[in-house]
Amino acid sequence: MKLKNNTISDCSIIDLSKVHSESGNITVVENESNIPFEVKRVYYLYDVPGGESRGGHAHYNLEQYIVAASGSFEVLLDDGFNRKKVFLNRPNLALHVLPGLWRKLDNFSSGSICMVLASELYIEQDYIRNYIEFKEWKLKK
Ligand code: TYD
Repeated sequence: MKLKNNTISDCSIIDLSKVHSESGNITVVENESNIPFEVKRVYYLYDVPGGESRGGHAHYNLEQYIVAASGSFEVLLDDGFNRKKVFLNRPNLALHVLPGLWRKLDNFSSGSICMVLASELYIEQDYIRNYIEFKEWKLKK
């Protein structure tokens, strides 16, 4: 499998917008509307102990929206050449992470929930979990 040639600047924050009312807000993510891929899987990270990090991998094909459904955390994006940190703390904002990029999540606030909408089912072969291997792949491009 070939690692895709995306860069950190291809990743953007999408405002999913919200339906506001005095009794609370609703944010909707709907296929063919405000997400550029079909959602095949949703998972969420929670009860992350202080100081822990998650992620630490890249995907060959999978793209995803990462949403701070509650609380806050940081996402480090790395394309093998450049890095950027994105702070997420609003449930109506999604970080669109493209395939071929390393990502690591840390600085989870207490009680935070990281919701991920993914374009693929869970397939371990789609993961690169070794950073040195990832860098070698990206430098080959
Ligand atoms: P992992 O991908 O290492 O989590 P993260 O990147 O968020 O730190 O997954 C942790 C464990 O959960 C691993 O044993 C695989 C399992 N898992 C599934 O079975 N299905 C899934 O959809 C995900 C995301 C993980």
